[in-house]
Amino acid sequence: MKNTKILFVCLGNICRSPAAEAIMTKKINEAGLQWNISVDSAGVMGYHTGEQADMRMKQHANLRGYEITSIARRFNPDKDFDEFDFIITMDNENFSDINSKDIEGKYSNKIHKMIEFCTTNKVDEVPDPYYDGKEGFEKVLDILEDGCQGLLYKITINTN
Ligand code: 4NP
Repeated sequence: MKNTKILFVCLGNICRSPAAEAIMTKKINEAGLQWNISVDSAGVMGYHTGEQADMRMKQHANLRGYEITSIARRFNPDKDFDEFDFIITMDNENFSDINSKDIEGKYSNKIHKMIEFCTTNKVDEVPDPYYDGKEGFEKVLDILEDGCQGLLYKITINTN
């Protein structure tokens, strides 16, 4: 199985994409695939660069057994398009923002929406929870768990 590199992208890289990174990392470790699949996350904007993830997201994720440890960084088109095999965006705005940085359309096959991989959550994006209450964070985690499961399945059936 070749080494597959995944990058999750949201707006600030402090709520959704770090949570996706933690969930995916746990699923990969449980499947014993930590030498075959690696995961990172980034934000479309750099406003929170260098910060830990949002405390509310960390706490909600912790209650489900996930530890969010990543430090926020901004998406870097000069490196990230080449480095990653899957660039997985959270909402429709992130998807169009990342596509607009791919000026020649060279990387469009790599750019996905998280919801493409969901099997039980029928939603059209992973909503921004930043201004929401507890339910918003729980909803995000429900969608991310579903999407990460589907993504792991896709990677393992395609590369075995
Ligand atoms: P994220 O959430 O994109 O899931 O990390 C947000 C975090 C911060 C802001 C917006 C969304 N903000 O406007 O600062």
